[in-house]
Amino acid sequence: MVQTVAHKITPNIALDPVSGNTQKDSNTMQSNDNYSFDDIVDRHNTNSLKWNKYKHQDVIPLWVADTDFKVAPVIQQALEDRIKHGVFGYTRTDEQYDQVVADYYQKKYGCHVEASWVVWVPGIVASLSLAIRSLSRQHQQVFTPDMVYPYFHTTPAAAGKQANHLAMTYAQDRVRIDLDTLEKRNAQDVRVMLFCNPQNPGGAIYTRDELKRIDAYCEANNLILVSDEIHADIILDEDKTHIPYLDVSAHALNNSIVLGAASKAFNVAGLACSWAVIANDELRKAFVDEMHGIISEINPFGYTATVTALAEGDDWLAAMNGYLRDNRDYLMEQLNAIKGLQMLPLESTFLAWIDVSELQLEDPCAFFEAAGVGLSPGQNFNDKNFLRLNFGCAKSVLEEAVRRIKKALV
Ligand SMILES: Cc1ncc(COP(=O)(O)O)c(C=O)c1O
Repeated sequence: MVQTVAHKITPNIALDPVSGNTQKDSNTMQSNDNYSFDDIVDRHNTNSLKWNKYKHQDVIPLWVADTDFKVAPVIQQALEDRIKHGVFGYTRTDEQYDQVVADYYQKKYGCHVEASWVVWVPGIVASLSLAIRSLSRQHQQVFTPDMVYPYFHTTPAAAGKQANHLAMTYAQDRVRIDLDTLEKRNAQDVRVMLFCNPQNPGGAIYTRDELKRIDAYCEANNLILVSDEIHADIILDEDKTHIPYLDVSAHALNNSIVLGAASKAFNVAGLACSWAVIANDELRKAFVDEMHGIISEINPFGYTATVTALAEGDDWLAAMNGYLRDNRDYLMEQLNAIKGLQMLPLESTFLAWIDVSELQLEDPCAFFEAAGVGLSPGQNFNDKNFLRLNFGCAKSVLEEAVRRIKKALV
């Protein structure tokens, strides 16, 4: 039974005097009328990784990458229906669920995927490991972006690979692999390139031209690209679109493993479900063989939430993206008005990337924790000049975090 405990940050948040709900501004009211992104869900006593970290402290957790939003009502309903059944034995998808993934790529991205190319895996990190281990022989190395989600570094290391980092660029405030440098890079002994699109942290969505250059490089150097597209459906810039790596060329399709999940966009990461699309039969067989005895079945709730999200979640997703867009714009305006902070613009993800180098703090993360805001240290992603802030929360919580940051700095 989940208990409700007093929420330390609630008293600072404006409540609607009539409904008792948090006050909504008129814009969010209109675009998110059917959904409750403004509501504050108490996540204490749910073993939430994000909230447990500061369980006994008055610190707003804006670190690990899950949002505080309740799932889409269609997902909630589908899970409740599944729970009512009452039997939760081993579950394995038939072609019907594979087809849902194929239809999602077709409908959303105009990209053809065969149901038989889909492999279900309980998580993307597991797939990074499976890909590295199944694609590269012992002596073969792995390229990984230098500044990226930490498991891009730890999974190759755990498979006995040397660190082989690809230089990044911050040009035009878009954090991405530096393609001019990449094109000069010797790839002898390298077989696999890990790739994160949209890029976490930084939130850049790679353009088709950029993807083509990467594909050309991979083709010239006989590399297999593993594309982690977990954040693909979170689009903040309305004029940008995510392009699945599968859609770049026939070569890309045949020489890649593309990883996707509903976990970030639909906030179901705890249900442990993701997929890999592997068009090449040989690569797919090697990947599936590698799973043997290591990777367990996906749980029935993970499947239910994922296929419901893909088939019926569009309306909710559009509203959530709108809400995140407003949060991003608010945060950019507020933080960039504070001397010593520079938040970079971001096209995707709910993860702000903030340059704090000007503050010359010995331990930036500890400084903001002392101010009551829990962020992710940039050094976890390989850039100690930055902090990462998760703005996937009710606007009122973000406003309170901004108040605390200002109090500490202004
Ligand atoms: C780029 C990226 N890949 C993978 C993951 C984790 O995926 P999973 O929980 O499916 O292992 C995250 C979580 O933050 C992420 O940002």
